[in-house]
Amino acid sequence: MKGKILVTGGTGYIGSHTVVELQHSGYEVVIVDNLSNSRADVVDNIEKVSGIRPAFEQLDCLDYAGLDALFTKYAGIKGIIHFAASKAVGESVQKPLMYYRNNLVSLINLLELMPKHGVEGIIFSSSCTVYGQPDVLPVTEEAPIKTAESPYGNTKQINEEIVQDFVKSGAPINAILLRYFNPIGAHPTALLGELPSGVPQNLVPFLTQTAMGIREKLSVFGDDYDTPDGSCIRDYINVVDLAKAHVVAMDRIMQQKQAEKVEVFNIGTGRGLSVLELIHAFEAATGVKLNYQIVGRRAGDIEKVWANPDKANNVLGWKAEATIEDTLRSAWKWQVRLREEGIQ
Ligand code: UD1
Repeated sequence: MKGKILVTGGTGYIGSHTVVELQHSGYEVVIVDNLSNSRADVVDNIEKVSGIRPAFEQLDCLDYAGLDALFTKYAGIKGIIHFAASKAVGESVQKPLMYYRNNLVSLINLLELMPKHGVEGIIFSSSCTVYGQPDVLPVTEEAPIKTAESPYGNTKQINEEIVQDFVKSGAPINAILLRYFNPIGAHPTALLGELPSGVPQNLVPFLTQTAMGIREKLSVFGDDYDTPDGSCIRDYINVVDLAKAHVVAMDRIMQQKQAEKVEVFNIGTGRGLSVLELIHAFEAATGVKLNYQIVGRRAGDIEKVWANPDKANNVLGWKAEATIEDTLRSAWKWQVRLREEGIQ
């Protein structure tokens, strides 16, 4: 056993995949999740995939006393991977205080409890949203942070600063901030994936639901951008590859290999794909035809962004491996399973 890791939001989309990869690599995992956007039976599916049942506590990270008691109950937690957060951009514009409270206070609670319970390191889920529309592509970690487009995006920026400031104050912890690009796909077993809640706002869940006939048509938001085919460009990262980045980052913290007490890494493929290219790749990979139409731009969308992942490749020793075809097939297989289970 490599050590005990607390995964907040561990029954969520990226969290559940990360729990499995941590277990595969020999870590013991404790999950906390308030189940606000996930289901308790994800724990069963994690066990089916890894063969190991992680400890699970239904708890909100806003509950300081509850977290304090949890660190005592599971004594010896060495690291935290902090996924638990609200993540819907549009909702954050409607309910800014809820977003600031959930996302900021949860992190502050964890940071405050780390020294008390001897927790050495934390990995924080950040986002390429902190770059806004970068001036130079592919974007490196040195690119300037742009004014956030939404309260959600702002919570990512502020949380990065909270971690930096806490470490600067001399706190006895180490941290890695992972800036994810666009996570998509599902576990190849189709036992884990992104659970739908309401109408999906993100491209791939909406796309697979359209292919399934749950939605009539996929709207492509704009074909008049300054890109080769006019649609927006993103860097789509396979969720299992993303999960593995957390394992190598945790290894780096645990083995005290960090060059600085807070390190930042882009987690992307380095390849930009347009919305139309992604649609065509999905059709080619699955043989399923997609009903889509071009509509106007979506407010707040970034025109194009993709990662320079050199730092993660060279320093972390991590590289995105899945092909876009395999990733889109996994997303489709997951959607088919949801239908079989009667979930969607
Ligand atoms: C969005 C957020 C990002 C956040 C991420 C979380 C914005 C500006 N960015 O990323 O901060 O971290 O979600 O998941 O909101 N698209 C369509 N039709 C659709 C849905 C999407 O054409 O029905 C297009 C979008 O215009 C975009 C691309 O698909 O070009 C990806 O969209 P999406 O999956 O929502 O992710 P982001 O907007 O990149």
